[in-house]
Amino acid sequence: MDNRKILLPLNPVKAETPWLWIGTWSMGGEGFGPHNEGESLRVLHRAVDHNLRHFDTAGFYAHGKSEALLQKIIAKERDEFFISSKGGLVWEGRKVQHRASPEQLRLQLEESLSRLKTGYLDLFQLHWPDPDVPIDQSLAALKEFQQQGLIRYWGVSNLTPHQVDEYLREERNIPHQVHFNPLHKDFDTLSAGMKSCINCITSPLEQGLLGYGTSAHGTGGISRKDLRNRNPYFSDRDVLQWTAGLDELMKGQAISKILSVLLWICSQRYVHAIIPGPRTVRQLDELIEFKSVIEEKGFLSSQERTLLSNKKVKEFIGEKVWEHLNTKKDL
Ligand SMILES: NC(=O)c1ccc[n+]([C@@H]2O[C@H](COP(=O)([O-])OP(=O)(O)OC[C@H]3O[C@@H](n4cnc5c(N)ncnc54)[C@H](OP(=O)(O)O)[C@@H]3O)[C@@H](O)[C@H]2O)c1
Repeated sequence: MDNRKILLPLNPVKAETPWLWIGTWSMGGEGFGPHNEGESLRVLHRAVDHNLRHFDTAGFYAHGKSEALLQKIIAKERDEFFISSKGGLVWEGRKVQHRASPEQLRLQLEESLSRLKTGYLDLFQLHWPDPDVPIDQSLAALKEFQQQGLIRYWGVSNLTPHQVDEYLREERNIPHQVHFNPLHKDFDTLSAGMKSCINCITSPLEQGLLGYGTSAHGTGGISRKDLRNRNPYFSDRDVLQWTAGLDELMKGQAISKILSVLLWICSQRYVHAIIPGPRTVRQLDELIEFKSVIEEKGFLSSQERTLLSNKKVKEFIGEKVWEHLNTKKDL
């Protein structure tokens, strides 16, 4: 797992899990249902108490409010945290726009540094390729920020397999945020980065559809203002049938659905890190349990291409659940 050493804070003494990052999108308080800032802060503090020191954010999340919230916990001991943020996507009114020219990325980085009240980011990523800007121009800007000491590492997000091949072929250990879970089995993008990328999984619970809250029922379970109405999985009948089938299968199992899904993801080839986005202390506690199970059962693999041993995970979650998680095809 040497390639993952790159994902450590400057002072890594308390950062136990470079493979488990806490995502802060939903904690910003926009578009994920009722919000309670006190609860979000409790989630962050509890994560820190359990030596989870990797946090993912973006200026785009909740119009900067996720970064502002995160600032409150990293103010002391900044160097003990690994803070990943992103540039290239912005809100213009109610519309999401791509803005990843070098000038725009610099502006967004400066805004992130200011909201986080820090002199540097551990990682700054191109949030999404901008159709109006050649990707190599966006990447050249990130490399310049690194040379200037504003960021320790640069990374990418949401590249296609073809783009990984074309722009990262000569690179090594580039963090790439990839949307992947049992509903969205993007094996092609994971494999495209097998030599060049550290694949970090986003939306592992498909924004709550693989959870147990009202959002697990798709659009029927969320308000009209919820941004997850934009997620096609939330309104697909086939998908909802599949999730209902998984719920049925989980009845009477000793292991929870969340734990099974997260373990399944991390046992897939070329998955190197995972970024769930908890909104409540209860949800964070499930992630702490996930961390403990991995450590106690000795699931971490010594091979570079897998994070967890898939044989051990399959035995642990049981053949039927394993098969169900394997079967779903993409939309
Ligand atoms: N690079 C990118 O383009 C990109 C895109 C998406 C996400 N991300 C990153 O990935 C992170 C996670 O993605 P996400 O928030 O979209 O989706 P997610 O982690 O798949 O789902 C989060 C939702 O799942 C539900 N949930 C139930 N139990 C949970 C548990 N134990 N832990 C976490 N969530 C639980 C919650 O919804 P309910 O409360 O409704 O049950 C929560 O809001 C983000 O915060 C962000 O940092 C990056």
